[in-house]
Amino acid sequence: MTKLADEKVLVLDFGSQYAQLIARRVRQQHVYCEIVRHDITAERIRELAPKGIILSGGPASVYEPGAPQCDPGIFQLGLPVLGICYGMQIACQALGGKVQNAPAREYGRAHCHVIKPDGLFAGIPAEMDVWMSHGDQVSQVSDDFLPLAATDTCPIAAVKHRALPIYGLQFHPEVTHTPRGTEIMGNFLKTVCGCTGTWKLGDFARETVEAVRRRVGRSRVVCGLSGGVDSSVVAALLAQAIGPQLSCILVDNGLLRKDEEESVLKEFSDHFKTDLHVVHAEDKFLAALAGAVDPQDKRRRIGHAFIECFADEAAKIEDARFLAQGTLYPDVIESGGSRDGPAATIKLHHNVGGLPEDLAFELIEPLRDLFKDEVRALGLQLGLPDDIVWRHPFPGPGLAVRCVGEVTKQRLDVLREADAIVVAEIKQAGLYRQTAQAFAVLLPVQSVGVMGDARTYADVVAVRSIDTEDFMTADWSHLPYDLLARISTRIINEVKGVNRVVYDISSKPPATIEWE
Ligand code: XMP
Repeated sequence: MTKLADEKVLVLDFGSQYAQLIARRVRQQHVYCEIVRHDITAERIRELAPKGIILSGGPASVYEPGAPQCDPGIFQLGLPVLGICYGMQIACQALGGKVQNAPAREYGRAHCHVIKPDGLFAGIPAEMDVWMSHGDQVSQVSDDFLPLAATDTCPIAAVKHRALPIYGLQFHPEVTHTPRGTEIMGNFLKTVCGCTGTWKLGDFARETVEAVRRRVGRSRVVCGLSGGVDSSVVAALLAQAIGPQLSCILVDNGLLRKDEEESVLKEFSDHFKTDLHVVHAEDKFLAALAGAVDPQDKRRRIGHAFIECFADEAAKIEDARFLAQGTLYPDVIESGGSRDGPAATIKLHHNVGGLPEDLAFELIEPLRDLFKDEVRALGLQLGLPDDIVWRHPFPGPGLAVRCVGEVTKQRLDVLREADAIVVAEIKQAGLYRQTAQAFAVLLPVQSVGVMGDARTYADVVAVRSIDTEDFMTADWSHLPYDLLARISTRIINEVKGVNRVVYDISSKPPATIEWE
């Protein structure tokens, strides 16, 4: 943890899909923010000494038995509290109010009228749109509370405690559909909590570089390079911190995208002048994958092969004592890896490709406190080019999980070509930054077609493109028809063995982003 985090705000997570979004919104206002479990004790909060607390939303009803509660002592700490949706209901109930099922459930945009432009609503117009998503609402508050805003169906849409710095919002200020949400959260952070905004990535980079130097001393650090944003930013930070003591390892598993190895090598030699080991292991991975069709089985086999390759190569590097990894804050929270954080929720399959703890290295995880958008901003600050910083995420098991069914060199080559066309056309249309992840999937299905005068029976490629901020939920991208047409025509004309292209129009949930 850096000194910059001295001024921090805690988000108590009641199971909201927006808890991480709230934390990111706070950090975007230069206030460090951490997510902690909803039942953290008041005593522990006092130790952590935050400037304020935000109670997140959540899917439960506060009056149901077993609904997540908080330590009521947190309302007596004298700290500013902002309850959002479920968080407001918890606060109002704890302090003498009533929560009931709303007469009309509100989902989506609602018109909100500010009754009292106090504190939170300073500088906000009296009428505004807000985003609601609730079945319950506060139906009655004790005399200690003052209603601040209302909608047609929610008479108590915002409240303030008369004596304590406690506020509640029934709507969600953290989502972009609440256009004045940023200002409302800013009012809470600056005016109510008194935060000055000390969280700056430039300072973070400087402090982290110094901390890495102190910790590493004269030892050597090994860093796996995958071409993704996270590992590139870790390598850039370490290159700045310890330059010649850094050794990077790139495992070419034969499951990379078209020209990926070359572009990583180029990026590497352009940006970091450190020791690089490339392990050519395509044959090993293909042999390991032979006959595998089950997605989890593929992941396991790839995971094992990767660990072997990496460990063998790392063993050749003398004095290697540390291993640097691009673990991000969402990984830490979702795997239950922080002391005060919520319980684990991550899908375990994403960990399968990770390195085992018994590799006998000490771990360095310089991005552990950062969200993805912060990692990208840091990458830009460290001088990495847009191309790397904005590259779409790519799964560890690579094209193997996009080659539905058996993975062979021939099928991978077909997929690689089709995928390159999808990405190139989306870039050409200027939509690469707007879409979060776009790629091709090779299906284990042949269909009939006609080319020239001949009947064909060939492969089907699915195109997947999604829009998302957090990758936990996602919508399929509404790509223009003419772009889809170009992608389809090019794949069918240029990729031998494909005669049909389909577009995946499934959102997540219930589908996932990858097909396997
Ligand atoms: P899903 O398919 O679960 O994917 O909606 C969410 C995000 O995670 C990536 N993903 C993986 N990343 N190893 C990884 O490193 C994996 O096994 C894996 N599976 C999915 C996926 O590309 C998307 O960005």
